[in-house]
Amino acid sequence: MPKFHFIEKAITIQKLPWNKPLDTWTGTVPQVVELPRGESRHVVTFISLDNSLYALKVLPAGGGKQELELLRNAQELRLPTVTPYGLVLLDDGSEVLITRYLERSLPYLTLFKSPSLERYRQHLLDAMAGMLVQLHLAGFYWGDCSLSNTLFRRDAGILQAYLVDAECSEFFPGPLSADLRVKDLELMENNVQADLSFLASESSLPEGFSYYDSGALIRQKYHQLWDVVTKAETIGQGENYRINERMRQLNALGFSARDVQLAPSPMGDQLRLKISVTDRSYHRDRLMDMTGLRVEQMQARKLVNEIEELRARLSQERGQNVPIEAAAFYWLEQVYKPTMLELKPLAEQRQLQQDEANPVLNTDPVELYCQVLEHKWFLSERAQHDVGHQLALEDYIRQFG
Ligand SMILES: Nc1ncnc2c1ncn2[C@@H]1O[C@H](COP(=O)(O)OP(=O)(O)O)[C@@H](O)[C@H]1O
Ligand SMILES: [Mg+2]
Repeated sequence: MPKFHFIEKAITIQKLPWNKPLDTWTGTVPQVVELPRGESRHVVTFISLDNSLYALKVLPAGGGKQELELLRNAQELRLPTVTPYGLVLLDDGSEVLITRYLERSLPYLTLFKSPSLERYRQHLLDAMAGMLVQLHLAGFYWGDCSLSNTLFRRDAGILQAYLVDAECSEFFPGPLSADLRVKDLELMENNVQADLSFLASESSLPEGFSYYDSGALIRQKYHQLWDVVTKAETIGQGENYRINERMRQLNALGFSARDVQLAPSPMGDQLRLKISVTDRSYHRDRLMDMTGLRVEQMQARKLVNEIEELRARLSQERGQNVPIEAAAFYWLEQVYKPTMLELKPLAEQRQLQQDEANPVLNTDPVELYCQVLEHKWFLSERAQHDVGHQLALEDYIRQFG
């Protein structure tokens, strides 16, 4: 009898036909669903249970447990990885790692085969670099970073990258050593090159696409980002505002400060500023705490900005300081939810239009909401006064619906 270990409450996974090899499930097990995916060494099967999607990956003895633990630690540190769900120990000794299917994610194959690739290429490289910086800051050595092992999710017009395969990974205390970072980047460069050469050999890349430098560009971007995020600066007397400036700079890059250290500098009355950076989830967590909404990082930043704006307006109208939590509640009930309701038909209509030729068509409702915000900003700029949420929404639906 197989043994089950679940991290969260158990779903009906026990009832699946575990006595049959997983590579024979497709076509015979009704819960199996076909979804786009990257290259893989192991058997990977997607299933739909209780209205949720899961990925099942068959690994040799010990492999599943190890990957489960790594992903679990990574999730605790809020790193951008898929979420582990559980483990099944099969009678033949092999192990099945179960992860939650990363909703709305695109494997790179889909992105690279899309005609709109050129527009997304830079985002894709930035997303890979940002993800690696975040992992390395937390002491996570990937050991097999590749395009196939990364999933991409649309986030307010850009892409966010997520680690999907932690088979060769390892955690080290504190930020990763320079040696290991170099090693990880080398592996990434070789893998990315191999992934793209494969697509080139299949003639799947757009005409004239320079694929051979993609790995090197990710590495360059990574180093730039790492330097900005980890640099120590000296601050002169009366220059305390620079601490705030630095934090804002980090926030703009999507990172947030965990610890600000100031130590006397050898240069006399100057101070040495070192900020330890944790993650890129600052706005995401803030929005989650205030509203319970779980969205992507850049989306969260836009929504939090809108809440801050609303708070200022409410405070002005009421002649008193409105707490951010109260503004967030008002926003959720009076602005966000009604708008989402009005955008629903548009999201559904786009879902129907999404096909092979148009794999990156925006169908995510939160993404549509963010576009309405952009539209409001655009209309207000043009009119040189605030046109208001409702007018922007109506105009957006009229133009893009
Ligand atoms: N939780 C998940 N959500 C979405 N896609 C997934 C998930 N797990 C695996 N996949 C898809 O399956 C592919 C193979 O998974 P991976 O863990 O890389 O297997 P392997 O170790 O065999 O390379 C990935 O490239 C990805 O497209
Ligand atoms: Mg893989």
